[in-house]
Amino acid sequence: MPALLRFSAPRGLKVSRAEGQYVWDASGRRYLDLHTGHGAAFLGHKNKYVVARLRSQLESITCLPPIFDTDILEMALESMGRILPSHLGHLFFLNSGSEAVELALKLARKRSGRRVFASFTGAFHGRTMAALSVTHNQRYRQGYDPFPGETLFLPFNNVEALRAIDERVSAVIVEPVQGEGGIHIATREFMRALEERCRDVGAYLIVDEVQAGFGRTGRVWSHTEHGVKPDIMVAGKSIGGGFPVSVVAVSEEVAAGVEEGEHGSTHGGNPLALAAVVGGVEALERENAPEAASRMGEILASQLREVASEFPSVVREVRCKGLMIGVELKVKASPVITALQEAGVLALRAGLIVVRFLPPYLINEEDVGVSISALEKVLQQSVKGGAG
Ligand SMILES: Cc1ncc(COP(=O)(O)O)c(C=O)c1O
Repeated sequence: MPALLRFSAPRGLKVSRAEGQYVWDASGRRYLDLHTGHGAAFLGHKNKYVVARLRSQLESITCLPPIFDTDILEMALESMGRILPSHLGHLFFLNSGSEAVELALKLARKRSGRRVFASFTGAFHGRTMAALSVTHNQRYRQGYDPFPGETLFLPFNNVEALRAIDERVSAVIVEPVQGEGGIHIATREFMRALEERCRDVGAYLIVDEVQAGFGRTGRVWSHTEHGVKPDIMVAGKSIGGGFPVSVVAVSEEVAAGVEEGEHGSTHGGNPLALAAVVGGVEALERENAPEAASRMGEILASQLREVASEFPSVVREVRCKGLMIGVELKVKASPVITALQEAGVLALRAGLIVVRFLPPYLINEEDVGVSISALEKVLQQSVKGGAG
């Protein structure tokens, strides 16, 4: 048997079943899943709308590119049309967030005829070469040198620094809430100033909603809170209820320049992925997932803040937007995440010192209680053991 390339340390947990907000190991022990496959299972495991659409699609067409017309393609376009910002009326389906970022950058570079991209400190946009070129963390970039010198990294949430965006810049890419970078929330002032600067210098504004989008922050698309209108928006992770699918949505102006053969993807727009999107949007709307994320996010965050105040020597800050939650520690996050798993709660890291919780919209108050007491217990141990 070949060995899996271990780019990330294994979690030491063999999962045999997953449903809703829980997963079970082989012995039948239940874990509360606040990891949700890096946030992709925001609609919960085996979401009934997604499963039903996938089941029915499995019986008809499972492999056909969207150059052929199908019912499921029409349905997926119609579904996305119900939730996309109205000025982003053209889209392309791909398979992962990185691929969507890749296309967004390609479109901006070609349309503008400019080479430079601008991005921000703490930004994460994926691991393919162009996506990596606008990803800030040196740990991911080292040794790959993606397009050296072609990205300006500006301090996140710093309005003054936006002046460095000039006529050389083809596009600026921004996360409305930085996920991997540690749950840092863009301010309204920053997003507005960024939009204005992009317009002034003729740079495209790309909003990356791969992690924050599709309801997680309490709105279908997080950036709409600030009233900004990106030229290009990318989304992925949870839009297919956990099925691998992503989307690039663009304005009329960007779409107008699209040329035959400019881009393509073998699996992009696969009928099963489209069915997953149809089911995902159905679930989002019928279950009012953004509203649930906002409500449960507030409950979870306020209880986390109480816990944080009990442990000032270990916890620096709790940051949250809906169900995108970061607990910044004064010690390393990894041992805390391992201990949380032992206590039955799955979480993930964001950088070295932030414990990230990306719960599905369907967590309830009992689940909140479970996660809070697990964290309290773990932090107590951490204080006693001087962890970090
Ligand atoms: C904001 C953001 N953009 C892009 C990506 C890359 O997505 P993928 O891992 O599906 O390629 C991620 C993944 O975590 C992300 O959080």
